Amino acid sequence: MALPDWSPIRNLPRQTLAQLFEGDSSRVATLSADVAGIHFDWSKTHLTPQAVQAFTTLAEQMGLATKRDALFAGEAINVTEGRAVEHTAQRGEGAPESVALAKGFHARMRALIDAIEADALGPVRHIVHIGIGGSALGPDLLVDALGREADRYDVAVVSNVDGVALEEAVKGFDPAATIVAVASKTFTTTETMLNAESALAWLAEGGVEDPYGKVIALTAAPEKAIAWGVDETRVLPFSESVGGRYSLWSSIGFPAALALGWTAFEEMLEGAAEMDRHFRLTPLAENAPVLAAFADLYYTQALGCETRATFAYDERLRLLPSYLQQLEMESNGKRVTADGQPVDWPTAPITWGGVGTDAQHAVFQLLHQGTRLVPLEFVGVIEAGDVLPEAHHRQLLLNMFAQGAALMAGRDAEDKARAYPGNRPSSTLLLDDLDPRTLGALLAFYEQRTFVNAVLLGINAFDQFGVELGKEMAKAADQGGSFDASTTDLMRRAFGE
Ligand code: F6P
Repeated sequence: MALPDWSPIRNLPRQTLAQLFEGDSSRVATLSADVAGIHFDWSKTHLTPQAVQAFTTLAEQMGLATKRDALFAGEAINVTEGRAVEHTAQRGEGAPESVALAKGFHARMRALIDAIEADALGPVRHIVHIGIGGSALGPDLLVDALGREADRYDVAVVSNVDGVALEEAVKGFDPAATIVAVASKTFTTTETMLNAESALAWLAEGGVEDPYGKVIALTAAPEKAIAWGVDETRVLPFSESVGGRYSLWSSIGFPAALALGWTAFEEMLEGAAEMDRHFRLTPLAENAPVLAAFADLYYTQALGCETRATFAYDERLRLLPSYLQQLEMESNGKRVTADGQPVDWPTAPITWGGVGTDAQHAVFQLLHQGTRLVPLEFVGVIEAGDVLPEAHHRQLLLNMFAQGAALMAGRDAEDKARAYPGNRPSSTLLLDDLDPRTLGALLAFYEQRTFVNAVLLGINAFDQFGVELGKEMAKAADQGGSFDASTTDLMRRAFGE
């Protein structure tokens, strides 16, 4: 397969952000885009028309347009697992048969939600959603971001196998008014199955006569859920070709669809579909996920940046950085190309981030004055999420804008301890409002940007073999397998064995 040649990117002329702005009065217009209720501004990155041209050539060499079409056509682009990648079909953008299958699964989910709303499972006030990784991060983000005003149900998402997580989640929940959603693509994940067993025990201890009758299974392995004890009518399947970290659009999004309402869930799918269409149909040099990926790759491949950080200047998006960590690091944290050759260029940077303005008082010192260059991404929302005096939201956004400006401008000072070098890049995503449609578009943007990064890096974004060994060793440890001296000593100290 074609391997990326980074030399044209590495050889691009180096100019400071200040020079770039001085030299091009139309820079903001050239390096911004408006898609699906989101304004994107990359003008404070080091992208230039020349850089975009160099990356476009690279994208052509790496077959980006063909691979993009193959993704939407349902071809088996997850080559290591011999599978199609069909999360976009969940939102109506994919091969007709895959879209039809997804619609059928959604109809099934909707019917069950209607039944729950009609008290078919008894009165329901609380939902305990049990899952981990992609089976938790997406739904958790959706409910946390959009669920503040939806007071129909309390939703608790439990992922960690640490029993404290489950205990905390069910504290204050009435077992008689609780349903348990067990979310696992494989229906074999140790943490999820143990938490599910304990949730069943909690229901039984709380006087629920038929605990399994309160369980909904969200899975691509329906036969396993049925064998475990869930009645077939409460199993909500989705396709094997929907990857875990891309699965919130499928039945894995059940708690969001129930708590926010079906209309909101559909609007989220529509927002994502709008971003998909933009990605599919817009020329590369004006394409939001593509331009964002070009900026990502400029910093990793040309400037050697090892991390990239996203700061959400909105409390409702506080879970966005964790969600992005899995999306980006599990997708693109690879050391071989899609056909198995070792790469000698860096793949995914470390994704991290936090919430503004809190992060300004904790980690921004390093971002302004530290020795490491960290490309930042700011995400803000024009419409406030609160009803407090406008001063709050204004302060929030002013701070976000000021940070981007300060990172770029830097400050000269006689006293070197007080000087800032400046020339530090950031991109800004400004959402009109945080509603289901815009959030759907935002998350689809991140998915497609991750895909573009992978194509240009020559890797497969859709497998995750690197997580297997740790899982196998945990199982082996549980079965008395032998380990190195340090691990053996730690186990003896913990378990006395
Ligand atoms: O261990 C990683 C992983 O396989 C993720 O890719 C996935 O989202 C998570 O575990 C949970 O898997 P499952 O949905 O099969 O329980």
